Amino acid sequence: MARILITSAIPYINGIKHLGNLVGSQLPADLYARYMRARGHEVMFICATDEHGTPAELAAAKAGKPVAEYCAEMWQVQKDLSDGFRLSFDHFGRSSSPQNRKLTQHFAGKLAENGLIEEVTEKQVYSNADGRFLPDRYIEGTCPNCGYDKARGDQCENCTKQLDPTDLIEPRSAISGSTDLEVRETKHLYLRQSLLKDKLDEWIDSKTDWPILTTSIARKWLHDGDGLRDRGITRDLDWGVPVKKGDQDWPGMEGKVFYVWFDAPIEYIAATKEWADAHGQPDADWQRWWRTDKGADDVRYVQFMGKDNVPFHTLSFPATIMGSGEPWKLVDYIKSFNYLNYDGGQFSTSQGRGVFMDKALSILPADYWRWWLLSHAPENSDSEFTWENFQTSVNKDLADVLGNFLSRITKFCRSKFGEAVPDGGSYATEEQGLIDRLTSGLRTYEEHMEAMEIRKAATELRALWAAGNEYLQAAAPWTVFKTDPDRAAAITRLSLNLIRFYAVISRPFIPDASAAMMAAMRTGDDSWPEDVAKALAALPPGHAFTVPEVTFRKITDEEREDWQARFAGQRSAA
Ligand code: MF3
Ligand code: ZN
Repeated sequence: MARILITSAIPYINGIKHLGNLVGSQLPADLYARYMRARGHEVMFICATDEHGTPAELAAAKAGKPVAEYCAEMWQVQKDLSDGFRLSFDHFGRSSSPQNRKLTQHFAGKLAENGLIEEVTEKQVYSNADGRFLPDRYIEGTCPNCGYDKARGDQCENCTKQLDPTDLIEPRSAISGSTDLEVRETKHLYLRQSLLKDKLDEWIDSKTDWPILTTSIARKWLHDGDGLRDRGITRDLDWGVPVKKGDQDWPGMEGKVFYVWFDAPIEYIAATKEWADAHGQPDADWQRWWRTDKGADDVRYVQFMGKDNVPFHTLSFPATIMGSGEPWKLVDYIKSFNYLNYDGGQFSTSQGRGVFMDKALSILPADYWRWWLLSHAPENSDSEFTWENFQTSVNKDLADVLGNFLSRITKFCRSKFGEAVPDGGSYATEEQGLIDRLTSGLRTYEEHMEAMEIRKAATELRALWAAGNEYLQAAAPWTVFKTDPDRAAAITRLSLNLIRFYAVISRPFIPDASAAMMAAMRTGDDSWPEDVAKALAALPPGHAFTVPEVTFRKITDEEREDWQARFAGQRSAA
């Protein structure tokens, strides 16, 4: 049994996330956490809301609420939605927590002690029209690297380059659009991550098993000479972690806060402390996940994130950890994702284009979305949500294959043998053939799940469902029953056991359907089928069951068209 620490990139607080956000970190992280728990490993699965920075301030202003109140409310909204999607976090924290404030200040203090912080008087963009300094994201302009004209002051979405606001060509205020900007002097802290270049380089080089998407982004920024430039880690804002050196004041930094990207990843650690504190547990309980001097050297730490987050997790956050000089756990594996597009374009929050988490759950249960999203995860390239594809997947995979199998065999058994696993007959070559097929398929499925090859795992799972369906179709107990009821009983017994088998192995993908299948089979035996033959004898003759309610329904053409129109968003006037 291993110990596995899993973190999902923490979503920004400023609104409800769309399905592209969901499939880019939280959902695949959940799949992996559920799978590892099912295999008997000890898992700590952490997520939180990312609450600081200008986006939170502006969203709160728009909602007409104090920012702390806005964040508290939106945390609850996001928490309820993650519960709705059955995301099985051990803790869903908040980056504005006292634990994170303390830990962020602690890291800054250690970095300063180690000579990795520099105080820089710098020139910053001040907007006369807005009456404030414009931090990073609230300056837009043209990317000096690729020429994209909507690059933000912190990062170019187009080429993923990390930027400073003053790098932008033809800058304008993203708040007012004003170009009446001037440069004023202000003092800030810089993290001297360039001093850590060799260490980071060596560390990335040692990660030979990481996905290409992850290492290629990391290497690009390490080697272009500029990606590891020293970066400002403080901002002239009200909302955030106040700048302190451990618990000491930091002269000259009064009224300033840490940059949101400095405190956000530290929240992975702080959230684990929040979890321990919430359960009245001692520090040792969270430190065994995070401190290599307190047991965490046995932990395997896996992070999940979209590709735009990769530079912060391969360079900036490791620089904070390494630079602290303390024995904190570094990530062991980073699974990153491309983007999910929506029906011929992009998801757009401002235009309301695409399906957002709340709306998704209002039209269909979580499992339908989980199945489609995971089986189409944008792993090797961007992928696209279309309503046709969604309808086809749900109707075929879930309704025709898995759902059909369940209802057919349980109804047949009820009508011929009653609502209990029938006795009589014995397994024959057909059954052995199926067991062999399921054994090899299951081992392949396990390999893909271990390797976080999500699409491949989904394909194999679908094939396992199809194998049972084909077996049942060929064995045709409804025909056999007329001449050989004992043989029909054996086929039925095996098939009913297959329902439990499917419930167990499918649970990481479709937890609610899995629970319904277990309930119908009236069993709590969710042990992983190490030995398929044994697993298919888990429910003995005489074991009572109930015919399940419809587990999956089909999406009609009318619904598909209605939803397609409903979620198309406002086309912009221009
Ligand atoms: N809030 C960021 C985003 O949605 C992710 C932050 S991940 C963390 O892109 F590492 F900073 F926590
Ligand atoms: Zn660019």
